[in-house]
Amino acid sequence: MKITAVILAAGQGTRMRSDLPKVLHPVCGVPMIEYALRAAWDATSEVPVVVIGHGAEAVNEFLGETARCVVQDPQLGTGHAVQQAESTLRGKTDLVLVAYADMPLLRPETLKQLVEVQKVNRGPLSIMTVYSPDPRGFGRVVRGPDGGVQAIVEEAAATGDQLSIHELNVGVYCFSGEWLWDALHQIKISQKGEYYLTDTVALAVQAGLTVQALVIDDLVETIGINTRVHLAEAEAAMRQHINHAHMLAGVTIVDPASTYIEPGVKIGRDTVVWPNTYLRGKTVIGEGCVIGPNTIAEDTKVGDCCEILAAVMEGAVVEDNVGIGPFARLRKGAHLCRGVHMGNFGEVKDSILGSGTKMGHFSYIGNAKIGEDVNIGAGTVTCNYDGVHKNQTEIGEGAFIGSDTMLVAPVKLGARSRTGAGAVVTKDVEPDTLVVGVPARAIKKLNEAKDD
Ligand code: UD1
Ligand code: CA
Repeated sequence: MKITAVILAAGQGTRMRSDLPKVLHPVCGVPMIEYALRAAWDATSEVPVVVIGHGAEAVNEFLGETARCVVQDPQLGTGHAVQQAESTLRGKTDLVLVAYADMPLLRPETLKQLVEVQKVNRGPLSIMTVYSPDPRGFGRVVRGPDGGVQAIVEEAAATGDQLSIHELNVGVYCFSGEWLWDALHQIKISQKGEYYLTDTVALAVQAGLTVQALVIDDLVETIGINTRVHLAEAEAAMRQHINHAHMLAGVTIVDPASTYIEPGVKIGRDTVVWPNTYLRGKTVIGEGCVIGPNTIAEDTKVGDCCEILAAVMEGAVVEDNVGIGPFARLRKGAHLCRGVHMGNFGEVKDSILGSGTKMGHFSYIGNAKIGEDVNIGAGTVTCNYDGVHKNQTEIGEGAFIGSDTMLVAPVKLGARSRTGAGAVVTKDVEPDTLVVGVPARAIKKLNEAKDD
């Protein structure tokens, strides 16, 4: 049986008071529409149709190949929105699952449950409902004397009795593909000038057809975002979900309320995450690490058994047994091999530091290739930028760079070479050679006495 999702994302989202289309506002770092999209994919195994309108260009660009977009212009309500998918889907799918793009906490499992309910329903649609003491402006579910669903009444149109109903319309529906399209054309315009999708319920009932309801019990899943207050609620709930999943998988999160992990992040067992830590994007952390407090990692890969304190890492790779911080910054293309130690006030960008290399204090390493077991003295700087180009620095294994050395790139320092404190190295240095001064010159071949 073929099931296709239609996600409604055309509404203006006026109450967000924003230049950014509502559905692109991030929840835990990811635009809210992406949650709806992924859940729909998961539940249907088909590319969803997304109805866009307000901010269509930006939303379309964000969605790219992940959805089939149809434009609703003007936006005349949720029923009219679904109509826009008719030419794409009529006759092409057995069931149509409709969800709104502003409900990021709905789980794919819950969508699947609704599909299962409709699969065995002889009537043309099934809806999702929830009981709540706080109606939040949701449509009320009206049931008949036999308990069957009769109608959904929008708050603005509800009678006093209907307003006191605690069963609410979540806003997710599963329709028979054969029935839906003609029914949409029968919806009458509301007093607000909109065509309500919710009116399909009464249409079915009037035709003597059964509307089934899946009553869900997790209110959190139904958080819909209309204002930035709702956005913060959704963010907190999502954060809690994500953190719980990591904890149940063996990660210690010392203070979940102040630990911000985006949904695409992976963390290994027995890693401890201290407060005020932000793990973003496609960050992957290995096993047995200690991360934070006060650390930000974005699109960064960290191996096993690393200790990272108060660091900022973006687009970096950190192998096993590396110690970083406090107060260190790894920028794009930083690669710290196994066992590297990077102390306070260092910055590394587009550089590889070989295994066992130590960079303890106050250094900048950019566009450099540094061998194994190199000692980078306090205050070392790769002067990689000449005002026009970024130039490379190479340092061979076992080199010892004295404190406050300036490495004026492009420049190469051979294996086991040394620089004196304050050297300004403007020319390549041979292996096993000590250079000193400004500009630095060789004063001694090292290890020669031993060789004689
Ligand atoms: C809707 C339901 C209400 C339900 C509530 C749950 C209707 C008529 N009412 O109300 O019963 O309890 O959701 O959150 O459906 N949209 C379009 N085009 C439009 C209008 C809306 O694409 O012309 C999209 C919006 O972008 C949004 C979704 O549909 O993603 C819901 O629209 P919204 O205006 O938020 O509906 P509610 O008033 O919340
Ligand atoms: Ca809404």
